[in-house]
Amino acid sequence: MTDSCQLSPTGPSQDKKNLLDVAAFRANFPIFSNHPDLIYFDSASTTQKPQVVVDSLLDYFTNNCANAGRASYSWSTQLTRAIEETRAKVAQFINGEQKNLVFTSGATDSLNLVALTYGLSNLEDGDEILLCPQDHKSAVLPWYNVQSMLAAQGKNVTIKHFAIHEVGDYDLRSIKELVSPRTKVLAMAHIHHVFGLDMEVSKIRAIVGPDVVISLDCSQSVGHTKVDAKALDVEFISFSGHKMFAAPGTGGLYVNPRVADKIKPIRLGGQSPFEIKDNSLEFSASSSSSVHQLIECGTVNIPAILSLGKAVDFISTTGIDAIEAQLSDLTVYLWQKLTALPGIVFAPGIGICRCDNGFGIISFRFEQISSLDLTFMLDAEQIFVRAGDHCSQKNNEEDDYLRVSMHAYNTREEVDQLVEILESNLG
Ligand SMILES: Cc1ncc(COP(=O)(O)O)c(C=O)c1O
Repeated sequence: MTDSCQLSPTGPSQDKKNLLDVAAFRANFPIFSNHPDLIYFDSASTTQKPQVVVDSLLDYFTNNCANAGRASYSWSTQLTRAIEETRAKVAQFINGEQKNLVFTSGATDSLNLVALTYGLSNLEDGDEILLCPQDHKSAVLPWYNVQSMLAAQGKNVTIKHFAIHEVGDYDLRSIKELVSPRTKVLAMAHIHHVFGLDMEVSKIRAIVGPDVVISLDCSQSVGHTKVDAKALDVEFISFSGHKMFAAPGTGGLYVNPRVADKIKPIRLGGQSPFEIKDNSLEFSASSSSSVHQLIECGTVNIPAILSLGKAVDFISTTGIDAIEAQLSDLTVYLWQKLTALPGIVFAPGIGICRCDNGFGIISFRFEQISSLDLTFMLDAEQIFVRAGDHCSQKNNEEDDYLRVSMHAYNTREEVDQLVEILESNLG
């Protein structure tokens, strides 16, 4: 059991609240002027896109469509340069090294790459992995995949489960009980995609010690709160571009320099630093080869990557503190309004721990009506929320939660409308 569910020091201080001019921020998103009645509350799934991101996608397709890293003509070399500039920008955004940032197709790709490029080649017979089955399946299943691949090589790796505490962060006591000298990897979320809390990575690092490799799923934190690769002190950081205002089909994997030389690529192609010598594979790059050269191969998603650079500029210009403060304000406001509704049952998270801080996600259900039925009723009012398994294993069948996930473009008025419609459907 954790001491409390206090959100980590990454949370915004109260005096930063209301720094964001929400109306001006929202005006950057054409979807809202095209659909004035839309209330979009599914940003944990994917965010809406600002005009700068839309423009950059259109610009690639209509003005300078070519491949990068392949040819010597100007468009190609300019695109190669633009991708590397974007890499530098995104790496700086998370306070990491440019050469250790790999572009991926999204967080699922990144999390699978951790398991396959690190786990598969570094785990040994008898080693143990710690994970939480209530995390997103993209953070959980890749380790089972690697476990079965290793079993086929005669190496038996055990996966142990730590629990969610009733308030919604991890049960630190269960981690203390499970960690052993054979623990080699711990997979965890930075901010949980259903419970919406900061999952306390620094406390977990203190429990497991410096030698356990931590794979941190930052899908719900990058673009919502400051993510600092150096301060977080984990080996791997995975995130999605499309959950931070960029196009789908892009994401990132940040590899801490201290494990960079332990990475073994699992797919090779045109740009891979390998050649065939004496009819076998030989590493051909200099020792200065970067992690992304080892892992990225084939044509990358050029327009989506460039759009990620624009999204980072957009967030930086707005200010991550202002975004975070707006999100926290909305979360607390929503929670306060929801508590008045009859029959409400909160999932773990702010509704149970009652913190004065949040990251835009609240999950709940009602005793008198199914969450799925409610999503249909809300859809009829153009309010988009999500129900279902939320891509994670349910603790029990009653966990049929409706998830409201917001971003800084949402408003208190939208929250009021949601609560009003919920109230009128509760009978
Ligand atoms: C916590 C978490 N991890 C991983 C993912 C998968 O991300 P992607 O869709 O970018 O692969 C999601 C998506 O919802 C998520 O919320």
